[in-house]
Amino acid sequence: MKSMRILIALLVALPGLVWAASAEINYDMEAFEGDLENKPSLQNGMRMYMNYCIGCHTLKFQRYERTADDFGIPHDIALQNLVFTDQKIGELMTNAMSPEKAKNWFGAAPPDLTMITRYKSSEYVYNYLKTFYVDDKRPFGVNNKVFENVGMPNVLADLQGVQRSRCEGGSEDRCDELYLEEGTGLLSPEEFDVAVYDLTNFLYYVGEPSRLERHRLGIAVMLFLVILACFTYLLNREYWKDVH
Ligand code: HEC
Repeated sequence: MKSMRILIALLVALPGLVWAASAEINYDMEAFEGDLENKPSLQNGMRMYMNYCIGCHTLKFQRYERTADDFGIPHDIALQNLVFTDQKIGELMTNAMSPEKAKNWFGAAPPDLTMITRYKSSEYVYNYLKTFYVDDKRPFGVNNKVFENVGMPNVLADLQGVQRSRCEGGSEDRCDELYLEEGTGLLSPEEFDVAVYDLTNFLYYVGEPSRLERHRLGIAVMLFLVILACFTYLLNREYWKDVH
């Protein structure tokens, strides 16, 4: 009996313990809500990914063809404008980088990002891309608020501009205030937010492409049920007409 109680207590406490172990990010993250109905956002996210990320990060469980179809992009346009290698439309979204060399260059091989929004959350990716800041002590001159001492260079720096970190009110225990040197980025802060939103939205989609299909199917099923209910009601009336 007693061991049973201990077991139950453990089971109840377990999610809390797991959460505590993973909650080592000491930064007030901004919320992120994916939007799979927003095709222009997904298309722009894919464009961003193909321009800024695929060189280092594969999406080895995702094919160009499926992505283009889901986003309503004709195959020839996708190949011309989004695929910069000689890969074919049916191929997986990979690159030619050797993991061993990459490990030498960056200290860690760039991970495949197909599942990153499920493994770490979309919110994490969104905040990660927005919180690179200048840190001269790091090999690439940047650090990150949600991934301390990250090995990745700040590949979106041209778009965002020079971002620095300072301590709020000179206090040493809250040093997560970020500020931008005005006019140093190609995009305004609002435009940069949208670009990073779209990129994260794209990775949110890639984490579970069938979610999009499920949404569409869900609506079709609801419509079917409503129509079926109408017919059932009429049939029911028809049967009882003769009884009364
Ligand atoms: C020049 C190569 C390079 C490019 C380009 C690049 N990354 Fe990275 N990225 C890395 C490396 C290396 C790491 C691993 C860092 C580490 O473990 O310290 C990484 C890590 C990450 C992580 C963290 C993964 C984790 O486990 O927490 C995310 C998310 C990420 N990159 C997203 C992106 C996105 C999105 C882009 C495109 C805007 C991009 N990266 C472009 C090299 C790159």
